[in-house]
Amino acid sequence: MAGTPGRDPWGAPRICYLLGSLLAGLLSPGAVAFNLDVMGALRKEGGPGSLFGFSVALRGQLQPRPQSWLLAGAPQALALPGQQANRTGGLFACPLSLEETDCSRVDIDRGADVQKESKENQWLGVSVQSQGPGGKIVVSTTFFFTFNIYHFY
Ligand SMILES: *[C@@H]1O[C@H](CO)[C@@H](O)[C@H](O)[C@H]1NC(C)=O
Repeated sequence: MAGTPGRDPWGAPRICYLLGSLLAGLLSPGAVAFNLDVMGALRKEGGPGSLFGFSVALRGQLQPRPQSWLLAGAPQALALPGQQANRTGGLFACPLSLEETDCSRVDIDRGADVQKESKENQWLGVSVQSQGPGGKIVVSTTFFFTFNIYHFY
């Protein structure tokens, strides 16, 4: 079998290794799970059913004063008032505070030509990335594979 063209000679040992690891994990009484930082954990809440926290990024703001934010995507968040959609998804900005409900919606997605596009169920906030302190933020939606680049001071 070994050396047969088109076959992975490491396939069988790899599966044995995986099964062995699983078995060792299940049988080992010393295996415990732990949180990295229980005392300093911050908890933030979003709207029910919004999938708040589906994506997260840390963001350093420089102006008007230096401040750190946690950005959280919520791809099933309700549409903003006046938007011609029910669920668009959204982006939330949360200060790094102990308050759980101080996240605010970042208004990046207002206005749409409903003749040309529908924002219904676009999953805005499925990914969010920050360019770093003072830089840009990229928020993406799924179905149209568009990226909203938002400058957030
Ligand atoms: C929003 O929901 C209502 C009620 O389910 C539905 O009639 C309407 O078509 C929805 N709007 C959009 C833009 O999908």
